Amino acid sequence: MRNRKHVLCIVGTRPEGIKMAPLIKVLKREPWARVTVLATAQHRDLLDQVLALFDIEPDVDLDIMKPNQSLPELTARLITALDGTFAELMPDIVLAQGDTTTVMTAALVAFYRNIPFGHVEAGLRTHDLGNPFPEEMNRMVAGHLSRWHFVPTERSRGNLLREGISDSAIHVTGNTVIDALLEVAERELPLDVPLDPSRRLVLVTAHRRENFGEPFRAVCRAIRQLADRYEDIEVLYPVHPNPNVRATAHELLGDHPRIRLCRPLDYAPFVEAQKRAYLILTDSGGVQEEAPALGKPVLVLRAETERPEAVDEGVVRLVGTDEARIVTEASRLLDDAAAYRSMARGVSPYGDGLAARRIVAVLRDAMQPEANAGLS
Ligand code: UD1
Ligand code: UDP
Repeated sequence: MRNRKHVLCIVGTRPEGIKMAPLIKVLKREPWARVTVLATAQHRDLLDQVLALFDIEPDVDLDIMKPNQSLPELTARLITALDGTFAELMPDIVLAQGDTTTVMTAALVAFYRNIPFGHVEAGLRTHDLGNPFPEEMNRMVAGHLSRWHFVPTERSRGNLLREGISDSAIHVTGNTVIDALLEVAERELPLDVPLDPSRRLVLVTAHRRENFGEPFRAVCRAIRQLADRYEDIEVLYPVHPNPNVRATAHELLGDHPRIRLCRPLDYAPFVEAQKRAYLILTDSGGVQEEAPALGKPVLVLRAETERPEAVDEGVVRLVGTDEARIVTEASRLLDDAAAYRSMARGVSPYGDGLAARRIVAVLRDAMQPEANAGLS
């Protein structure tokens, strides 16, 4: 088709790779769209793993990551690099997902260059700029610069309406993470970590910047207490490569016989680990969305969540970073079968696996009149 619209899809970190992959795949089948994938590589290793799994080869790679990057420096380098690329490519649409520095800067540069921006996973809020930090600010900035807001739930739609965003710009699509999860869960790729099948698996992930220092040390002490107290559990903790996380995790948990620290798992084996898990402790956003769909109880190691839907369903509980509270809440689930069952119901408040198709349908409708007008 002539006059195809140039759609620039941006990915920076692991979760963006996972959540943009289904959208990129569906978009690439659209005759009206010419798709360019730009990796900022805010994450290098974690992003590469995910892109390889989904067979996505970036057309442009900004290779931004530096060890232990500071937020101002990362932001400055992203703005400069993205602006150069936007100037060269002049896309018709820019799409990005979530609340990372990549997304905030992509929305900002698109705004400066007057290129319409579509925000995938829009409208998530805690209404607390310190929790999560800096993501609440990132998504507010991106949200106020977007032409299309693709929100996962009615609740996220309500958040945007209260901020004065026009209802006609908001589209409830579900979260593309469930599209990705369903596709990968079907593949049943092996979890290549030797685990003791006689023990209940407690899966842990943690990386939030607002938890660095004492809150994260308290989380580690709680995990250690649980491993000491319950001989029938085994903890699997794929440690995030952020140096602030790695150092503390290895210092406080590295030598316990029933705590296995490993490198971040590729997405497919990590999904298998979630399926195998009895219980999940995490501060991750994506895991809060995936685990309920897999019927796994989640204790969230954060003060607030922008994903209250699963909390309201009773399958996710916010436990914060207090050592005693984490031990009490996890013990309740490890000791009390009825309490466990009530949280181990498979519910999926964030999506049904069709989010990418809904997003593409909105963009197709928005682009088609112009595209059709250009045909002769
Ligand atoms: C980032 C996002 C966060 C998201 C998380 C997903 C920001 C500010 N933070 O946090 O919202 O939830 O990704 O995981 O956008 N590193 C590596 N290899 C990698 C990835 C990271 O070594 O593949 C190390 C580097 O030292 C890097 C550091 O981790 O400097 C921090 O990376 P960064 O992207 O700044 O923040 P995250 O904590 O990963
Ligand atoms: N994940 C993964 N390997 C791991 C840990 C997590 O593939 O070792 C996946 C997880 O299934 C989810 C995503 O990474 O889809 C979440 O990423 P992360 O927790 O880094 O970021 P957040 O979702 O908090 O932004």
